[in-house]
Amino acid sequence: LRRLGHAVAPNRKAYLLWTAGILGVLVAGGVVVAVSGIVPIRASGGHWPVTQWLLTFAMRRSIATHSLGVEVPALDDPGLVVKGATHYELGCRPCHGSPDQPAPVIPRGMTPHPPSLPAAVSKWKPRELFYVVKHGVKFTGMPAWPAPQRDDEVWAIVAFLRTLPALSADRYRALSLGAAPPGVSAGDLGPLRDAPRPVRESCARCHGLDGRGRGLGVFPVLAGQRSAYLFASLLAFARGERASGIMQPIAAGLGVEAMREIALHYAALPTLLPARREESARDIERGREIAVHGIPRQRLPPCTPCHGPSELARNAMFPSLDGQPARYLALQLALFNGQVRGGTPYAHVMGLVAGRLTPEQMREVAAYYAAGAPPAR
Ligand code: HEC
Ligand code: HEC
Ligand code: HEC
Repeated sequence: LRRLGHAVAPNRKAYLLWTAGILGVLVAGGVVVAVSGIVPIRASGGHWPVTQWLLTFAMRRSIATHSLGVEVPALDDPGLVVKGATHYELGCRPCHGSPDQPAPVIPRGMTPHPPSLPAAVSKWKPRELFYVVKHGVKFTGMPAWPAPQRDDEVWAIVAFLRTLPALSADRYRALSLGAAPPGVSAGDLGPLRDAPRPVRESCARCHGLDGRGRGLGVFPVLAGQRSAYLFASLLAFARGERASGIMQPIAAGLGVEAMREIALHYAALPTLLPARREESARDIERGREIAVHGIPRQRLPPCTPCHGPSELARNAMFPSLDGQPARYLALQLALFNGQVRGGTPYAHVMGLVAGRLTPEQMREVAAYYAAGAPPAR
């Protein structure tokens, strides 16, 4: 055995020397090639087919592996689909095109260029789409989601992407651009004729021509909201102090003067309370109890001194909640509870409040305010 060991040892040494030598030559060669600058990094030529195949293969394997633990929520939800569609128009269409405008010209010059998604999305599982949209893809130009805390928004995009393969151009326009509310014919902007330009060209698409959202509960009502709160919220989005991959890029594109003007415009619109109540009478009554009296055993303060209805004057920075969709209110409470909501300089107050409500109680108090907060008894 000892003799055998002696016989093997020089062989192993030689083997190691050879390996080190070859690696050294490769590294030195690589350095020479990189320093010489002969490697073409131009996008104009595209990849060689073999490089393209290797990169695509590695990307697919990486996404499949890294998305393994992702839990998929219910995605057949018209609200999520519309929320995803409205953002797609602003954040994805310029690169990927849409059923309305396939293959935009400038991004075709990228290597790799953004694929047409109606054909591409059916190759991916929902959890894989979630991973791609949330994290983006390195070395390709596919960006990560602007607000990494907001998985709920990424799921809205995934819900929309799943409908893309069967989506007509007309339906895409209706989803992403919205339709005029009853009583406002297309072309006649009604109350919007004198509105600030961003309101007509951007905000109305999601928040509605009348500032009342689009009836699905996913876009907050801005009409009749207090102007100090609207202005401070836009500033918070623009500075990244309130996280939303949908609202941050929009607010960041507005100047402070435009924000002030828009806030005054929406604050002056009438708050029409909802014509029909979708919340159950039981939820509304329980929610009223919570809003008016709080829950002493959970050390939860009442909501009404800050959010109304209240006889006393309220801080102008505290938002009204009356008539806000229950779904939007419940989502915001969940975000406060998860410490990801952010907001104006007063937002920390709500972190304490939301942490003391159970999910059931959040739903009830949201139902109470959504129904229009009948006067406190
Ligand atoms: C700046 C341009 C750009 C923007 C904006 C962009 N993408 Fe991409 N996206 C790309 C590029 C480039 C790729 C190609 C990656 C590859 O094939 O290696 C890609 C790939 C993808 C893929 C994988 C498709 C496949 O099969 O290769 C999906 C899904 C996707 N993007 C969705 C989106 C969504 C949803 C948005 C909007 C939230 C978006 N992208 C915004 C450039 C962009
Ligand atoms: C693509 C859709 C979309 C567009 C366009 C859009 N918004 Fe929003 N907006 C949203 C969504 C979704 C939310 C909820 C954000 C969240 O969950 O944090 C929101 C929230 C807001 C809020 C916070 C309301 C509250 O009660 O806290 C304000 C203020 C606001 N938007 C103003 C605007 C203004 C002004 C414009 C136009 C310049 C605009 N939005 C354009 C989708 C949009
Ligand atoms: C001490 C005052 C105070 C109390 C008490 C209070 N809130 Fe708030 N609440 C605020 C402030 C301030 C904000 C605005 C946060 C921001 O965006 O900066 C807010 C925001 C909210 C929002 C988000 C509104 C929107 O348009 O996005 C909801 C929902 C909410 N509160 C629900 C409640 C409920 C339910 C209660 C009672 C259980 C409650 N609040 C108690 C001060 C308070």
